[in-house]
Amino acid sequence: MKASVTAHKDFTISRIDDRVYGAFLEHLGRAIYTGIYEPGHKTADANGMRGDVIELVKELDVPMVRYPGGNFVSAYNWEDGIGPQAERPTRLDLAWHTSESNKVGIHEFADWCEAADTKMMLAVNLGSRGLDAARNFVEYVNHPGGSYWSDLRQKNGRQEPWNVKLWCLGNEMDGPWQVGHKDAEEYGKLAAETAKALRAFDKSLELIVCGSSHSNMPTFPQWEATVLEHTYDYIDHISLHMYFANPEKHTADFLALSHKLDDYIGAVAGVIDFIKAKRRSKKDVYISFDEWNVWYHSRQQDRAILDGKQGWPHAPALLEDAYNFEDVLMVGLILNTFIRRADVVKIACIAQLVNVIAPIMTEPGGDAWRQTIYYPYYFASRFGRGTALDLKVTVPSYDTETAKGVGYADIAGVAGDDGSVTLFAVNRHGEEAIEVEVALTGFGALRVIDHQVMTHADLEATNTAKAQDNVVPKAGSGATVNGATLKVTLPPYSYQMLRLKA
Ligand code: AHR
Repeated sequence: MKASVTAHKDFTISRIDDRVYGAFLEHLGRAIYTGIYEPGHKTADANGMRGDVIELVKELDVPMVRYPGGNFVSAYNWEDGIGPQAERPTRLDLAWHTSESNKVGIHEFADWCEAADTKMMLAVNLGSRGLDAARNFVEYVNHPGGSYWSDLRQKNGRQEPWNVKLWCLGNEMDGPWQVGHKDAEEYGKLAAETAKALRAFDKSLELIVCGSSHSNMPTFPQWEATVLEHTYDYIDHISLHMYFANPEKHTADFLALSHKLDDYIGAVAGVIDFIKAKRRSKKDVYISFDEWNVWYHSRQQDRAILDGKQGWPHAPALLEDAYNFEDVLMVGLILNTFIRRADVVKIACIAQLVNVIAPIMTEPGGDAWRQTIYYPYYFASRFGRGTALDLKVTVPSYDTETAKGVGYADIAGVAGDDGSVTLFAVNRHGEEAIEVEVALTGFGALRVIDHQVMTHADLEATNTAKAQDNVVPKAGSGATVNGATLKVTLPPYSYQMLRLKA
């Protein structure tokens, strides 16, 4: 099979906001406890944070991490996580039917972010709590001193404010599973009033209002329209979430789901434009896709805990999806979609970062290792920064239940500030290789400087603690540049990254 691609230096989509390569850590399962925090682990620092995990997070170059939830945040008292650790209360976490020791709170998480070279993106509780707790939390985190909450932060050991810019106004408030779930009118009003209060404190905050938890939600997209009617003037981003699953083991359908993602983004971009026009507004609102990933492998095994059959365990294994090679392709497709939608998606967070539906896994007292999906996330985060190219891709396609006209090759291109051109390519075809010819215009003389390919004979192959390098990238071969023409072959079911530079 053949594909032709045109890449022109001046045909661009938008600058890619680095924050589309963000991540998420929730007080859920072993994400925090025995994930990032494990005093006594042989790599733990003075704060009890695992050094091996910090190294992997640094390797990923994660721009910011959303915290502390997720569903957890909707019944969370942020004050439980401050002050002497020994005096912090143990609470029942209603979202995941577990116990929360509060050994990690905002101070510990902030120190961890500094150690991991990343920034905080924080969520306030608009489920069981509201405006008052939110404004107090923001004052505690961001005010320099001389007020009740900022003085308390200083008493608790942190002199300087953390100056966190990104604040999520609740989590998935459209979901009936959410503690304190609201309808769009109720939530829209509460989010608007909370946003106004936070803006009164600091106009420069970037505020994120909840959109839909999934495009399958019965309230989508009216939810977005109603919430934005109330909040448009006071917020900067609307949050979307989407998880991808293949329980039927139908690869062609599964890999077509990135079209559903693209349609979802397009529909919400349309709602944003509609509200903007209706309000005669000059202001732009963008999408924060702050939860996305494959999630289905662990659903069955989690049932007993979620149904309360194991009481209220502290940090049990939950949502520990073991990712396979097929998921590498899906994650590559999701990231390609964000690159192509860089004009409207300015923030995105892989959900999550450690142990819970995560690229990084740990064993308590043992190793930290990279799951299969670590690699496409790594390549996009490291090399997908710059300007998204508006590629013209011509390739045979297929139709599925999920979408029509799904190209067998999915290719995204990024022009780096250093003059590089990076292509990310997925071959959705299981039997046929795709010979790709790329016409490159306006980039000068280019040569291949890096070529990484992921293929595997078994779509279900995973990495485990014992076999950590079963699914890993390998150096690609055979890519040639002749004048302004690049030729490269995509093997059946493959992910690859190709970097070119003068
Ligand atoms: O990431 C796991 C959960 O998925 C989050 O807590 C929630 O926001 C979403 O439903």
